[in-house]
Parts: sequence; C-alpha cells; structure tokens
Amino acid sequence: MSDSFNAFVLNKGDGGFSSGVQQLSLDDLPAGDVTVRVQYSSVNYKDGLAVLPESPVVASYPLVPGIDLAGTVVESSDPRFTAGQEVLAIGRELGISHFGGYAEYARLSGDWLEPLPSGLTVKEAMALGTAGFTAALSVQRLEDNGLKPGDGPVLVTGATGGVGSTAVNILAGLGYEVAASTGKATEHDYLQELGATKILSREDVSAQSDAPLEAELWAGAVDPVGADTTAYLLRTTRYGGSVATCGLTGGFAVNTTVLPFILRGVNLLGIDSVQCPGDVRAAVWRRLGADLKPKNLADTISHEVGLDEIPAVTASILGGDVKGRTIVRL
Ligand SMILES: NC(=O)c1ccc[n+]([C@@H]2O[C@H](COP(=O)([O-])OP(=O)(O)OC[C@H]3O[C@@H](n4cnc5c(N)ncnc54)[C@H](OP(=O)(O)O)[C@@H]3O)[C@@H](O)[C@H]2O)c1
Repeated sequence: MSDSFNAFVLNKGDGGFSSGVQQLSLDDLPAGDVTVRVQYSSVNYKDGLAVLPESPVVASYPLVPGIDLAGTVVESSDPRFTAGQEVLAIGRELGISHFGGYAEYARLSGDWLEPLPSGLTVKEAMALGTAGFTAALSVQRLEDNGLKPGDGPVLVTGATGGVGSTAVNILAGLGYEVAASTGKATEHDYLQELGATKILSREDVSAQSDAPLEAELWAGAVDPVGADTTAYLLRTTRYGGSVATCGLTGGFAVNTTVLPFILRGVNLLGIDSVQCPGDVRAAVWRRLGADLKPKNLADTISHEVGLDEIPAVTASILGGDVKGRTIVRL
C-alpha cells in the first residue's frame, strides 16, 4: 500500500469552498473494517449534486465524493472479505457523509460491499454503477409486477442518461419492445443502437393535459425523469401496467389523479438503490452479471475519464448533456 495517494476532495470551511485533486494518506480515510484499492468509480447525477458549493446532498466536509467504487480488498477485519478479493459498493453513505470512490483507496463497512458478481469485471461494474443497478432494479420490479416480453412497448424516459441508456439496453436484451424518450434530437441513432425501436421527444412525454386518462400505450415504463413525465406515464399506461419511478431530472412534483390506479389498476413502483435491502441488492447484481448485462455496455454506453476531468463531467451531467455512463479511472 502506498503512503500517499490521489483523491478528488471537497473542502468547505472558513476559507470558503474548494474542490480538486490532492494527496491523501491512509490515515486520512474514515474508520471502517475493509480497505479497498479503488480501481474505478463512476459519475452519477447525485455526484453532480455533491460537488456543488451549496450541495443539497453532502452531509459533511472535507469529503471524497463518488457514490460508486470497485476494486480490490487490501485489508479486512470483516471475515466476509479477504485481501485480493474483487468488490464493489454503491450508495449507502458513500460520497455523501463517508469518503467515496474518487480516491485510490477507500475504507468502509463490509456491510456496504458486494463481492464482484461473476460475469462482470470491476470496470464493467462501474460502467453500470448506481445508474445501471437502478435500471436493473426497475426492470426486476416491473417483472415482479407481471411485465414480460410480448406484453407491449415499455417506455424509458430520459433515455440517453445513465439510468436511461442502461435500461433501454437491458430491456432490449431481454426481448422487450422498447420505446425511448429524449430531449436530444441528435441521439436517435444512439438509442436505436441500444435497442429502442420507437423514439419520442421530451415534449411528447411531458405535455400537460386536462384528461386524467389517455390512450393506453405502454405495458410498462422506467422513469428517471419524474414530474410531468410521471403524470404522462400514469395516464397512458395500459390496464394493469407499471411505472418504475426512480428520479427527478425533470422535477419532483407530480400532478395526477387516482383514476389510473382505480380504473386501470396501474402500479406506481418506487425505486431506491441507496438503501435497497442486501438480499435484493445481491440478486440484482447477480442478474447484472448474467441475463441483465447490457450488451453495448463497453462499446457504446460507457467512456472513461481521469480524476482531473470530474468537474467537467459533473457540470455536464447537471446540464443534462451527458450521454450514457462515465467511468472514473483511479
Ligand atoms: N432512486 C435511486 O436510487 C436513483 C438511482 C440512480 C439515479 N437516480 C436519479 O435518476 C435520475 C437520472 O440519473 P442518471 O444517473 O441517469 O442521470 P443522467 O445520466 O444525468 O441522465 C439524466 C437524463 O435525464 C434527462 N434530463 C435531463 N434534464 C432533464 C429535464 N430538465 N427534463 C427532462 N429530462 C431531463 C436527460 O436525458 P435525455 O436528454 O435523453 O432526455 C439526461 O440525460 C436522477 O434524478 C438521479 O438522481 C435515482
């Protein structure tokens, strides 16, 4: 283990706010029973919020952000993990109140770690990260509520983003008919390459309407956008279909009625990756290494950056400009 290592650190105090790459030592890391040599992390929407000077998500400073990490155990007093083992962690308090993945080393509770599932490399695990896990959990919950290939089109909103891109590719790989909505008119070819066969504009799926119910279009939906888009999905989902809602890039207030629920039996499924129970989490990661693994993960969906490129990527993600998934190399 090296004595000092590179980390992207947020500081806030009397001298104001600062962020950037600096050297840390192992003594700077928080308490925890497992020390990991981090090989890859990733950039999620929440990381974009974390690096803001007035962050709505960070609980304490100084902080190493990065809500995802994957690498190799170097030291462990937790009997479930041994030196040399490949592991990953997403969510919990990482990058929010506990030092996260944007550093060459991390120390954390073994309760937050997963053994790397078979079928994934550490780099692929971070090409997925929180966003890919959330897409897979959404698909799992839709299936738990009865969705199956052949039922009809499944709409993915915010489709060029991290959750959206992985959801389109996962659903297409499982044999679903996939529709995608996007604000990026230039990215229709990208979405078709991932498996979308119908593309709608962001305006199509966020229009206000006085009608509580409209034509039944969707057998299911994966919705990282929220707000008016969730309201649109509820009034256009087919009888008995489900909407898996995980995000708020379009806002958080949803103006709807009870009619989709009581006249069409539509289900609104809440998706949370952060505190997702351990047994569900492990099962979803196992499927991500097998039948849910997005086929275009490495070649089309993900690209890699270094620590010094984090400010540019986080600015872009908050501006809604990022396409696919960004892996951070440590
Ligand atoms: N519940 C959970 O556990 C969980 C886990 C992961 C993520 N999330 C949430 O899910 C959302 C997406 O995360 P992500 O990592 O996929 O983010 P992302 O990579 O930044 O993608 C978000 C996508 O949303 C669309 N978008 C951006 N601004 C928008 C706006 N003003 N109105 C409508 N659409 C907009 C864009 O897609 P197009 O240009 O294609 O429209 C953008 O690419 C975030 O709110 C995040 O916090 C929640």
